[in-house]
Order: sequence, then structure tokens, then C-alpha cells
Amino acid sequence: MDDGNGRGRTHPAPTGSPRDPPASFAEQATVSNGGIHEEFDANWPDCWDRAAELLSWIEPYDTVLDDEDAPFYRWFTGGKLNAAANCVDRHVEQGRKTHTAIRWEGKRGERATYTYQDLYVAINEIAAGLRELGVETDDVVTIYLPMIPELPITMLACARIGAPHSVVFAGLSADALATRMDAAESEYLITCDGYYRRGDAFNQKSKADNARLALEQDVRTVVVDRLGEDLPHVLGDAEWDYHELQATHAGETVEPVARDAEDMLFLMYTSGTTGEPKGVVHTTGGYLSHVAWTSRAVLDIEPEDTYWCGADIGWITGHSYIVYGPLALGTTTVMYEGTPDYPDRDRLWEIIDRNAVDVFYTAPTAVRAFMKWGAEYPGRYDLSSLRLLGTVGEPISPRPWNWYREHVGGGECPIVDTWWQTETGAILVSTLPGVDEMKPGASGRPLPGIDAQVVDADGTPVAAGDTGYLTITRPWPGMARTLYDGDERFVREYWERFSDPDTDDWNYFSGDTACLDEDGYITVLGRVDDVISVEGKQLSSMEIESAITSVDGIAEAAVVGRSSDSGDETDIYAYVSTERGYDGTDVRASIVGNVESVIGEAAVPRDIVFTPELPKTRSGKIMRRLLEDIANGESLGDTSALRNPEIVGEIQAERDGR
Ligand code: WTA
Repeated sequence: MDDGNGRGRTHPAPTGSPRDPPASFAEQATVSNGGIHEEFDANWPDCWDRAAELLSWIEPYDTVLDDEDAPFYRWFTGGKLNAAANCVDRHVEQGRKTHTAIRWEGKRGERATYTYQDLYVAINEIAAGLRELGVETDDVVTIYLPMIPELPITMLACARIGAPHSVVFAGLSADALATRMDAAESEYLITCDGYYRRGDAFNQKSKADNARLALEQDVRTVVVDRLGEDLPHVLGDAEWDYHELQATHAGETVEPVARDAEDMLFLMYTSGTTGEPKGVVHTTGGYLSHVAWTSRAVLDIEPEDTYWCGADIGWITGHSYIVYGPLALGTTTVMYEGTPDYPDRDRLWEIIDRNAVDVFYTAPTAVRAFMKWGAEYPGRYDLSSLRLLGTVGEPISPRPWNWYREHVGGGECPIVDTWWQTETGAILVSTLPGVDEMKPGASGRPLPGIDAQVVDADGTPVAAGDTGYLTITRPWPGMARTLYDGDERFVREYWERFSDPDTDDWNYFSGDTACLDEDGYITVLGRVDDVISVEGKQLSSMEIESAITSVDGIAEAAVVGRSSDSGDETDIYAYVSTERGYDGTDVRASIVGNVESVIGEAAVPRDIVFTPELPKTRSGKIMRRLLEDIANGESLGDTSALRNPEIVGEIQAERDGR
């Protein structure tokens, strides 16, 4: 497959030899029925009752799926529920008050444990505090917090009073925060004084202040005092201290608001290819059903488990699989504030050993780092409590897959390679660990009730083994309902390309390229639209390029991913051409500074090559594939399609000369 821009790949990564799930796992798995795919198919869409049954409904729904207004699907219509009551109250009511809900591991070795009763009390107090501030049903509350317990508590307090939350990853810049608050017209912000970054105190409040200065609306702000004496701060007008606010409402309870299944639970911004972040809207009934069901069927979570997902709650993985899914099931979810290598590279294994973690879910980029650091670190600990391992966020190739299974999973644990997106809300493609054979490098078949196809540019399914575009051909409960800034953009971004409204044939376009094998297993290769994955996070090359080109003196920029020398990590590599009268030394520092402030640290290019021109196709498109090959020191294919082939030698000379 080729997208006409020379960027297509024709050969998917090879998958490793298939492995059956170990019998000991299959015996106890939450799903052990090999016929479940067929069962769901025969009974679709009513099969999704199975997911909704995992929740407590205030009013039962009358219709599983309403597809009248496709692609604006509605799930479980007529039903009413409250997400916070599902994640906390019902466990307390069912006699599980003292069961641990959250086990928090702080960056400096601090520890805290919240039982379901503790969580219930804190959520109610914060809900009462938010009400005092004026938060009403349907007001968007922005949360800009690092991985501290106040983050999930605030999310659930919002859910309790029916106020959608919009969590902005704490490492994003003031500009990124302001853009998101502006787009959502959000008038409430929950943030903190700062947090520790590898032991140093880092000021978060000043970023929040800068964002507020850029906003037209008045913003009421609540500040968590995370650092105490390490970073004293003074509260200004319309600012409250989080724990003082909580204390003034000590012991109060707030009735959970009965939300319509289709009412918004939260907004989550994700990078778009056009540079404008997209506000993905998730609703209450469908989303919560889908995350609860997949937490059980794919991650095999049981209430007695200690489960750990190593993502940040600031991204969708943390929303779905640290907070909503595991808490809906009443399990113990581990929340880790730090990084895997601080104070040493054995940090994660020590936490797994000490807490007897049963299920561990992380990103392939982390697995590649563990592999690089060496087996001695996990080797120092007893990891035999682990029953299942998972990955999410990027493709995982057979080598790290096997390393993960061997050195973390003791050669025993099944691995689930889960494919999904911010927009899908929950996992769509994965093996069912107690049922399906695993193929290292391939995610698996679409889950029961999910239908996916790999198609060519005309929408025709490709032959087994060929590469194409990954589409989802039936709706699913956790799907995004729209984009906050408009239905039109929602249709344009995800539906238009492979749908035919005249025949009411709607297919969701994931934006990923993939390959389907003869058993229906899907290997996802990556984004169609040049997105670079750094440390497990998808960064839009377009967004980075626009941050570079907004610096004075820059004419044009292209960024690509470059594998590090060990092949384990991806760095951002930028090609920049300056305007006349400027040269690299003038602008290098401004590029770095601007990318950091507009997008964040993770997006800063590791290397910048200055070139008089960028290689272009005849139609004027920048040829990123070629730039990627140059960055990676690979041999260059045919360059005859270029409008300016002579530039290639110049760029290589410039790269080698540095
Ligand atoms: C990629 C994260 C290969 C993919 C949940 C997708 C994957 C994007 C996998 C979504 C996987 C996610 N194998 N690629 N198992 N899981 N991706 O929105 O390109 O941050 O479109 O959601 O990550 O990233 P997002």
C-alpha cells in the first residue's frame, strides 16, 4: 500500500511463533469460553448487554443501540446511572468498605492507601467543594494534576455531580492548557503548586497562572499543596486551597446526579494532524460499560487483584484502565507517581514485588527500555505474583515481547497486546488471554462484538497478509460520540473517508495502517499521517512543525522519528530551512524553547539539521519517508520522484558534518 506520498510500507513486521495460553491461566480466566466471538456475533448488538450488566443502573435502558442518526450512535438509551457511584458507592454498599481501592506510590518513596470508604468520603467532600465554587451539571472542569491521589478523586467528584472533566496531562505547557480550556470554555481549574521531577521541585502553578492570563474567561482555581515548604505559594483572588476546601466540607455527602447514558462523562484532547487538538467526547453509559467489560475480559481483573497500569492518568489509558475500568470492578488499582528509573532502574520491580501485583499493563517503549537496562533488574525481585501482562500504545515487536514474557512474566504469563485509541475509549483489538493463541507482534482479532477490516484506498478489503487502512465496521459502546468543537469535524476526521452515507454504510477510519493475517489477527503498523511515537505518546509531526515554523526566521520544517543507536527508542529529528539572513546558530535555541513551551518537553527535537531546502515531490509535498531514511542512516530508495533531488546529497553532507 502507498498513500501516494511515498510513505506507505509494504511489509508488516514479522510475527513470532504462536503460543497457546498456559493451561493454569486459562483455568481461572474471566473469559474461558472459546465460542464467545460467535455468541456475540449471533446476538449483536444485544450482546453488549453483557457489558452493561457489569454496572448498576439508576434507571434501566430501553434500547441497546440507537443507530437512527449514524454515525452519531447512541448506546443504552433511556438508561440513567452515575459513574462515581458505580466506581465507589456500590462497593461500599456491598460490604467492601475496607477493601483497598488505590495504592499510591509517590515519587520520593511516599506511600498511601485509600480504601473504598476513604475514596467515598474524599470524593463527597470535593464534590461539595466544587458545588460551593459554583460548578453545575454540565460545566467542564479542567484538571491539571500529576499522578497524585487528588487526580482520580477530583475526576470522580466531577462525575458525581455530573460535571464533565477535561484532564490535561501535567507535563503539557501553559499554552497547551490555555488552548484546551479556551476550546472547552472551561471556567474551573484544579491544579497544584508543583511536583517532584526526579527529586527536584518543579513549579506547576506558574504554568497554570500563565494559562489563565491568556484566557478571556474568569477561572476559579483550586490548588493542591503537593510540595509544602519546598515550594511556598500564595493564593490570589478566585483561588482556593484544595485541602482547606475539602476540610470545610468534612463529612458532607452529595447525592450522585443521575446521568443519562448519553450524557458526557469527560472530554479528552488529542493531537490532530491539522495541529488543532481535538476534544474527544465520551459519554457515561457506553464508555463505562465498555471499559468495565474489557478490564474484565482482556485484562482479566478480579476484585481481589492488585492491578497496575503504568500509564499517566493524563492520557486515555489512565482514564480507562487506572481509574474507571478497575474501580468499576472494585479492584485495587496501583497509582505510581514516578519514573521507572528513579531512584534506580529496579523501581517498578520492587513495587510489583512488595505489593504482589497480579496484572501489569504498560507501553512497549517502557519494555524496550527495560530490555536495554538488562534482566538483572527484574531478576533481583520475586515477580511470581504476576498472572498477566499487557501492552498498549504502539506496536511491540517479537524481541521485546519475548523479553517481557521471559524476564517479567517468568516465561509463564500470557501477554495481551491491546490496540485502541483515545477515540475508541476502550480496547477494540486484543487476544482474550484465556482463550486465544498469542502471536508476538500481532495484537489479535477484534474483540467479541467488534468488527474490523483492513482496506485499500478504495475501501476494498485487502488480501490476507497485505497492508492497508484499519477500519471498524460496526459501532461499539465506548466510541467517541463527537468532537467538542463540532459534529462536522467528527464526521470529516473519522467517517467520511470510508463511508457511504447514501447507503447508510458507516465505517470508522482509525488513521492507522495495519495488516490482517489468515487467522484474522491484526498487526498495527502505525499512523497514516506521520505521527511520531515518543515514550509511548503519539506526537503529531504537524503540531511540532508548526511550533518550529512559528519562530522568527524559519521558513520550513519537517520532523521525523529517528531510532536511537540501540534501535530501542525514538527521537525527534528536525529538518529546518531558515529564511535569508538567518542561520542555524541564530534560531536553534528559539526552536527548542518554542517547542517546549507550545507542546512540551517530549516534543523537543534531539537533533536539528539546517538545510537550504526540504526534499519535495513534484506536487510539492515534503517527502518525509526520505527524511526518515536519512535520519536513520538508511539507504535511500528511488529519489527520481523528487522535484529537487540534488538537495539530498546536501542534507546528508550537513548531517555528517555536524
Ligand atoms: C497506537 C492510546 C500498535 C495506534 C490507547 C493508535 C497501537 C494510537 C497499539 C492511539 C497497539 C495503540 N499496537 N499501535 N497495541 N495501541 N496504538 O489515542 O497508532 O494515545 O491509533 O490511545 O496508538 O493513541 P492514543
